[in-house]
Amino acid sequence: MPDNAILILAAGDGKRMKSPHPKVLCQVLFKPMISWVLDACTGAGCRQEQICVVCGKGSEELQALLPQGVCTAQQEQRLGTGHAALQAEAFLRSLPEGTQVMVLFGDVPLVSSSLILDSQRAHMASGASLTVIAASVETPGGYGRIIRDREYNLLEIVEEQDASEEQKAIREINSGAMWADAAWLLSALPRLKNDNTQKEYYLSGCARLAVQDKVKSMVYVAPDSGLALGANDRAGLLALNQIAARQVLEKHMMNGVEVLSSDGVLIGPEVEIGAGTVLYPGTILKGKTVIGENCVLGPNTVIENSTVGDGCKVNASQIENSVLEKDISMGPFAHIRPGSHIGNSVHLGNFTEVKNSSIGDRTSVSHLTYVGDSDVGEAVNFGCGCVTVNYDGINKHRTVIGDHAFIGCNTNLVAPVKVGEFGFTAAGSTITEDVPDYALAIERGRQIDKPQWARGKIKMK
Ligand code: UD1
Ligand code: CA
Repeated sequence: MPDNAILILAAGDGKRMKSPHPKVLCQVLFKPMISWVLDACTGAGCRQEQICVVCGKGSEELQALLPQGVCTAQQEQRLGTGHAALQAEAFLRSLPEGTQVMVLFGDVPLVSSSLILDSQRAHMASGASLTVIAASVETPGGYGRIIRDREYNLLEIVEEQDASEEQKAIREINSGAMWADAAWLLSALPRLKNDNTQKEYYLSGCARLAVQDKVKSMVYVAPDSGLALGANDRAGLLALNQIAARQVLEKHMMNGVEVLSSDGVLIGPEVEIGAGTVLYPGTILKGKTVIGENCVLGPNTVIENSTVGDGCKVNASQIENSVLEKDISMGPFAHIRPGSHIGNSVHLGNFTEVKNSSIGDRTSVSHLTYVGDSDVGEAVNFGCGCVTVNYDGINKHRTVIGDHAFIGCNTNLVAPVKVGEFGFTAAGSTITEDVPDYALAIERGRQIDKPQWARGKIKMK
């Protein structure tokens, strides 16, 4: 995006959302709305220093999310979108002569890089001082309505609160996004008035000023209305989540991912999925997650910031911040917590939990077992109900288990402790000392049989 700039208005509070955080931090598919907008700008080739974000109440929280190098301006009082844009006066003044600036709203998250670039092209080609991006929608309630002529010359934008019944029937709405000549915008913003129902300085008032100034102002209609929708309340946010979820699913289906039913399937925008993978209902994939080919995920599975190799089956399970190699079967009801690395063809059965551990290829942890802070070798077998006792109340300690070890049912491995290669532990043992290679460790009371003991009991009954 050569020599142009983008101004993002994000100073609105979360009042209508009933959120204690700035509104633009509300999430669509697990990603704050403002981050969607920023990513669209970067995707359009915009450099960080070409972007200015107008922040308001709770700006520390918002600024923490902004990529380094992005400029900010502060709006102390929420007096309207026009007033917000004026707070970036210093940024606008710093731009070289002839710069065209795009204004975007932080609560219109689905704006795409191609909409930014296509509208920029149209704006530059027409030589207009102002190009407002509009959308044609079925239910225009709540949006500013576009008044234009047949040649798409913009005449006015009327806000819902100020619109007549006739104007309310217009279904072409103001997306809030606009391109403007920076110098003209600087001259227009201080002239905006707040003589309207809401007593706010409306940025949309620029439309009238352009007509007054007799400069060219145009309407650019977005090809897809989803790109232009905003969220002011929780219902609006749900609508955007539904649109985004569908878009993301469609992209994956085009790439060969099978979706049996989209019920409860939510995939974050940055997730990658290989062809031939099947998603069952209730599959939620978040963050920077990469799924291989020919996996079966779900039902009811959550995977976050993790890599899952080809051919894995994850049934009703959860994985966080971990790496899984290939052909692993998990669940139902298994949990891999952060910092874990699971080898090829490992089996993690029901009610197993792994945390901050590595597990070697072909190891089997079939049922009711906790493996925490451990380095487990290849082809190890855990019986039912084993526990790596990793926490002494103050510190965490590691357990090391060699290849081909056999951990008998109900073994406690009290860390720090080591089981050697082909080491065995007898069922019910609490192991506190290292087990040598090829040894069997038994740690439990000997069985005592009391002959005929039950006979006395029966008599008493
Ligand atoms: C605005 C537009 C409306 C448009 C709609 C599109 C105005 C007056 N109205 O209405 O024409 O159809 O968006 O979604 O422009 N903001 C500030 N400071 C403020 C007020 C708002 O930074 O003082 C920011 C908000 O964080 C938000 C954006 O500007 O990101 C839009 O503000 P909002 O109050 O949501 O405007 P709408 O009522 O949706
Ligand atoms: Ca809005």
